Amino acid sequence: MKNIYSNIFKLNKKNLSKAIRYLKSNSLVVLPTETVYGLAGNAYSKKSVQKIYSIKKRPKLNPLIVHYHSIKDIYKDVIINQEFLKLYKELCPGPITFVLKKKKNTNICDLATANLKTVAIRFPNNKIIRKILKSIKFPLAIPSANKSSGVSPVDALDVVDEFKKKLKMIIDDGRSEIGLESTVVDLTNKTQILRPGKISEIQISKILKKDVFFANKNTTIRSPGNLKKHYSPGIPIKMNQKKIPFDGAFIVFGNKFKSTQNIFNLSKKSDLNEAAKNLYKIFNLIKKLKYKKIYVAKIPNKGLGIAINDRIKHAAN
Ligand code: TXA
Ligand code: MG
Repeated sequence: MKNIYSNIFKLNKKNLSKAIRYLKSNSLVVLPTETVYGLAGNAYSKKSVQKIYSIKKRPKLNPLIVHYHSIKDIYKDVIINQEFLKLYKELCPGPITFVLKKKKNTNICDLATANLKTVAIRFPNNKIIRKILKSIKFPLAIPSANKSSGVSPVDALDVVDEFKKKLKMIIDDGRSEIGLESTVVDLTNKTQILRPGKISEIQISKILKKDVFFANKNTTIRSPGNLKKHYSPGIPIKMNQKKIPFDGAFIVFGNKFKSTQNIFNLSKKSDLNEAAKNLYKIFNLIKKLKYKKIYVAKIPNKGLGIAINDRIKHAAN
């Protein structure tokens, strides 16, 4: 069947060349990753990076993650250390982002890193984006493909809903495998987690053979994107609710509540992976159904549940 959306493309040889041509000429392309869909542009080009901030209406003080194919591509841009090497070896490509010190003579444009002395880098694990990263000679600055503070897209149609026809090319690879953004770990100073994700603090601690904790958001401003309202469907949210509400949507987890019309279950079988994959879909569905309030039942705060609760908490701000 032919796609009715003229800017959604499946990857074939022709479309791969087209995506590469766009990226080389400073245009933006939406690409799938294993976490969420991202809005990609040449990280070495001020023109491309400016377009990213402008289309997303993103505050200029919120830096972008720079995406690479593999470790051999990063030496000009960042200063690596032992901890990075250990984590890279075990976890990459994969859903983890590393904050490292930026090299003085890097080509990464200052705007991409919000003029910080650090850069966040990531090696996404998705066949399509890896093929593209391998075919170009520059890394890609890629935030999630949504307007600033909104919900990250987990399929191509989410992107169309958000930007209508503003974007020339969205490469479709079905539903994002994980559905939540990557874990962000700061390796520049004290090792700490700035944003929880699929890769847990326990996994990181094991690999580094030391305890690694979450950054205290009240005392540090290390991940600017984590500061304000974020990941938000734009509807008031109340967490840790025990009763089915009568005046809003109810997001639940597990089989404790029987299905009523206003119940949206993240995972009937209490599977946190499934819940992560469904969270943003459910946010968007509730928004489409025009609910005015969202209530959320308690979700176990362990493993991927930590990342799920983190996103709901930010959305509730
Ligand atoms: O899974 C992901 O990471 C997705 C996919 C598309 O790769 N990308 C993503 O990008 O979530 P974005 O822009 O939506 O979130 C990037 C986060 C923000 O919280 C930002 O503040 C933080 O990374 N960040 C970027 N550079 C940083 C830096 N130098 N120091 C601290 N935090 C940084
Ligand atoms: Mg984002």
